Amino acid sequence: MAVTVRYLGHAAFALEADGKQVVVDPFLTGNPKAAARPDELDPVAILLTHAHADHVGDALAIAKRTKAPVIATFELASWLQQQGAEAIPANHGGTVKFDGGSVKLVPAWHTSSYGEQFLAPGVPAGLVVRFGGKTVYFAGDTCLFGDMALIGEEGLDLAVLPIGDRFTMGPGDAVKAVKLLKPHVVIPCHYNTFPIIEQDPQAFARAVEEQTSARCVVLQPGERFVLE
Ligand code: NI
Ligand code: MN
Repeated sequence: MAVTVRYLGHAAFALEADGKQVVVDPFLTGNPKAAARPDELDPVAILLTHAHADHVGDALAIAKRTKAPVIATFELASWLQQQGAEAIPANHGGTVKFDGGSVKLVPAWHTSSYGEQFLAPGVPAGLVVRFGGKTVYFAGDTCLFGDMALIGEEGLDLAVLPIGDRFTMGPGDAVKAVKLLKPHVVIPCHYNTFPIIEQDPQAFARAVEEQTSARCVVLQPGERFVLE
């Protein structure tokens, strides 16, 4: 089977397979690189890495409209339930099934807070998504960490990695991450949305392909990649 990976800008993605759509970190409203409107998404599940506004984004509105469950760490999911979403709380190491697939929450080194009071709904996570016969790792916002080697043991068809630096890994550490994760394909994200995270994704792609056996695919917002 194949999965179509659609880049919606920043760290927002849609995975599509078998007529079903899964949405990850749907920050669209207010995202200068947004490649979709929230009301055109119709997911079977919404997966969130953490509570920062550039990841939660439009999740609540999409969840309320579509009744799709939001899967996230315990505090964030519980907070979204209080706001009226159907949400499924989980935590690191746990796997949650959804219509057509599953997601395992894995560690990420970052922070997680929401709103001007910096409320802190839980901890950040990475996502190991099994969908359409493929295994896709969304690192979320994170630095490089050695236990990515354990995540690599999940057998990754694709790793989606931040390369923006400042708030996450930069390109150099992301290349090291690829060496630990050993995915077949790498897609960079979380860069060039704002001036503070400007990077050259083609330079990153060259470094990945020179130093590892992974293929690196640079997507413009709105572009799709078919993972076969
Ligand atoms: Ni963040
Ligand atoms: Mn972020």
